[in-house]
Amino acid sequence: IFEKSAAHYRALDAAATPLMRDERGKLRTPHGFNREKGELDMRSIFWWTAGHFPGSLWYLYEATGDEFFRTRATAWTEILAPNAKVTDNHDIGFVMYCSFGNARRLLNTDRYDALLAETADSLSKRFHDGLGLIRSWGSISNRSDFLVIPDSLMNLELLEWAGKNGFTKADAVARSHATKTLRCHFRQDGGTYHVLNYDQQTGRVKDIQQGQGASCLTAWSRGQSWAIYGYTMMYRETKDKSYLDFARKVADYAIGHPNMPADGVPYWDYGAPGEERDSSAGSCMASALIELSQYVTGEEGERYLAFAIRQLTALASPEYFSRGDEIGHFLLKHGVGNKPGGSEIDTPLDYGDYYFLEALLRFRNLKAKSEMTER
Ligand code: GLY
Repeated sequence: IFEKSAAHYRALDAAATPLMRDERGKLRTPHGFNREKGELDMRSIFWWTAGHFPGSLWYLYEATGDEFFRTRATAWTEILAPNAKVTDNHDIGFVMYCSFGNARRLLNTDRYDALLAETADSLSKRFHDGLGLIRSWGSISNRSDFLVIPDSLMNLELLEWAGKNGFTKADAVARSHATKTLRCHFRQDGGTYHVLNYDQQTGRVKDIQQGQGASCLTAWSRGQSWAIYGYTMMYRETKDKSYLDFARKVADYAIGHPNMPADGVPYWDYGAPGEERDSSAGSCMASALIELSQYVTGEEGERYLAFAIRQLTALASPEYFSRGDEIGHFLLKHGVGNKPGGSEIDTPLDYGDYYFLEALLRFRNLKAKSEMTER
């Protein structure tokens, strides 16, 4: 699969490179494939997924050791630098840590540290001291609405890195956001809401919005995967057991859901059985479960790992894994971006590929570790 993925992404890079600037000279990265137009869907470097394509190139460098991927990953990563100053959205954690974060890890360099610290500072400006939360959507000066989504949990990894590297406020911000979200953003059974709107005077939730989910009463699948991933990552970074327990709870909700299909790739919402699957919810969940399986013991760990293997087996099959040219050389078919918004339904998504490659690498590392132990 790594070999096939590398071939796909070589072709994708070749097709996207001439499109790196739009007709006005603005920089952009490949996000998906528009089947109606038969062309790549290129998006601004300020779009929330801009870090995932460079991040996938980094993972392919890690998987293959091929210098081609290091060179191309560096080129696509460095164009994202202006995001370090952005304060009008929470997604800069995704954008900068999937790209520059992987670059610093794989190149073992501190060359990008100042840029990452600046990004953490910009993201922290969205933190509201009274609420103890990062604002996901909307301007920091908006006094009437304060919108939070579980997706924000994914942006905390950058803050945890910054916290450990001299920017101490970032760790406090990340923990506060994760803990408040844990208390307010999920139903008793562990299913997530998508959008909560907080009252900035009283601190209470003033309304619940459907957002990208099927309704306020169901759990949007990718949001659930973000939560499994986010709390597993927060446990890794802090060793706070409340995050581990919560990661298990949100994972058990998804794995045990009566509408979870047999192959482990969720419908786009847990309340929408029979509708489109979301391969990105599946790949993100698989990556999270592989990590989670290492933090719990015995049968529980085996169960999480077995479920992730089931998901990866499905995603690597021709049902999901593309031949190459059919979806513009992206890897995974059948992603859903925003069904209620009528956009990106049954389509490849840059972030679906990113978490798929990450999950495969995590699985490969785990296998290598267990083979060493057996020896
Ligand atoms: N809002 C990010 C996502 O669509 O998952």
